[in-house]
Amino acid sequence: MITSGEHVLLFVSHLRKYFKQSSVFKALRTEIRALDDVSFALLEGETLGIVGETGCGKTTLGRAVLSLIPATSGDVYFNLPAEEMSRIMELDRKFEPYYDPEKADFDESKIPADLKGEFEEFLKLRKKNSLTRKKQSAIRGLRRFMQPVFQDPMSSLDPRKLVKDIIAEPMRLLTDLSREEITDKLLQIIKDIGLSADHLYRFPHEFSGGQRQRIGIARAISIEPKLLVLDEPTSALDVSVQAQILNILKDLQFKMGLSYLFISHHLNVIRIMSDRVAVMYLGKVVELASTDRIFEEMLHPYTKALLSAIPTIDIESKKTRIILKGEIPSPANPPKGCYFHPRCPVAMRNCGWSPRDLREPLRIMLDPTRNPEVTDMKYTVEEIISNEAENIIEVNFGENVTVDQDTLKLFKDLIEKESLMDEGVVFKAIDTVERSEDGSKIVITMIEPDTPKLKEVRKGHFVSCLIYDYNYYDENKPEEIEYGQEVN
Ligand SMILES: Nc1ncnc2c1ncn2[C@@H]1O[C@H](COP(=O)(O)OP(=O)(O)O)[C@@H](O)[C@H]1O
Ligand code: SF4
Ligand SMILES: [Mg+2]
Repeated sequence: MITSGEHVLLFVSHLRKYFKQSSVFKALRTEIRALDDVSFALLEGETLGIVGETGCGKTTLGRAVLSLIPATSGDVYFNLPAEEMSRIMELDRKFEPYYDPEKADFDESKIPADLKGEFEEFLKLRKKNSLTRKKQSAIRGLRRFMQPVFQDPMSSLDPRKLVKDIIAEPMRLLTDLSREEITDKLLQIIKDIGLSADHLYRFPHEFSGGQRQRIGIARAISIEPKLLVLDEPTSALDVSVQAQILNILKDLQFKMGLSYLFISHHLNVIRIMSDRVAVMYLGKVVELASTDRIFEEMLHPYTKALLSAIPTIDIESKKTRIILKGEIPSPANPPKGCYFHPRCPVAMRNCGWSPRDLREPLRIMLDPTRNPEVTDMKYTVEEIISNEAENIIEVNFGENVTVDQDTLKLFKDLIEKESLMDEGVVFKAIDTVERSEDGSKIVITMIEPDTPKLKEVRKGHFVSCLIYDYNYYDENKPEEIEYGQEVN
């Protein structure tokens, strides 16, 4: 629902949040990539749904946008004059080709001389406006315009305070409204959320879950913000109560022209509430489009799998549930290339396969109980060592062995055969199979994988997948693009 023109209220660029996990043991200190290079814009009056399985980074995104936690890198622009916002977005897009994920910043050294002036302008605008570059004291003034609503209203409402004081708190802290004005506002808001004046003089524990969530919403809208970040606002409630809360949110949005960042792992709730939807996987946005496109003409293989899980009442529907193999990998140690590749039903050889993916399939290939041809090999395998940094796997036959040409050939044939199997794509990502210099090992080198970027594949439809590795305005994009449900 876009009620007030096409003005962008919120623009997020390359936002990251890595949590450092401390440990007394240096080797156990890790970084959790909770939010990994997320970009999007939110229009005034619009709802952008954020959907994805638990742990994919939705809450972290909401908190980083609101500056409730400091971002590791990237930028958040909020509530700027229209002209300044569009200039920032224009420059951000212009310098996009020079963004270096390794540096988590634009690579100044690569910017052509004729763009240096504009780049300077961009850096100045960024420093002046991005919330991630402001001091907390400067952000406090903006809190008035962006407010969170959390999943569990009980834990976010102070149990010792009367409801009137809970709702009034942001007005007291963030506005200079008088006592009388605050009282008037309280009476109006309590009606807006479907409760009555006498509810103001009760404590949170006297209310049901749904009523408490109404109070949480009243508190958030009391200061007339422009943006609400709603983090699973109805996930803790019964279905019948959910619908009431969702209706209130829709009404308020219409009346107040609010923008919503609506976070939920419930696909049906996302579908009802959102104008556009961003699908997240392992800290990244993998697809972003209008709600209709996401639900009817989704492109990303993960979105297809996620949406195939929605139960359908349509008996005619040929939709089959796509069961993904394996578990969601840990954000402390994400896969190479496309983070989705180990589970993707249509992964290709360049999608990110690395030694860690090949190790186990190789072990199975070399297990004589599973693969009798291995018994033809003259030597037995002592160990398989994968080296992620050098992108190689070494198959060690022991110090005294010199691998001969026949063994090398047999080994290559086995790999060739595996690569033709259904699950054999990881073997297709092998570049060379050679003997080590001393002849005691076979060294497998894998191809350098590609990493997909979020690209605008159709107007307003963004996908991060190497199958759709072009922009809709590219001249050499393919003519026929298949949309919809068909995965394998
Ligand atoms: N404060 C924190 N410290 C360390 N890891 C965190 C912290 N908050 C979240 N994470 C991790 O970041 C990832 C994303 O979490 P979260 O944003 O809560 O996902 P979601 O809301 O989609 O379930 C998860 O792996 C989670 O364990
Ligand atoms: S890039 Fe696309 S095809 Fe390749 S693994 Fe990722 S989602 Fe699958
Ligand atoms: Mg969450």
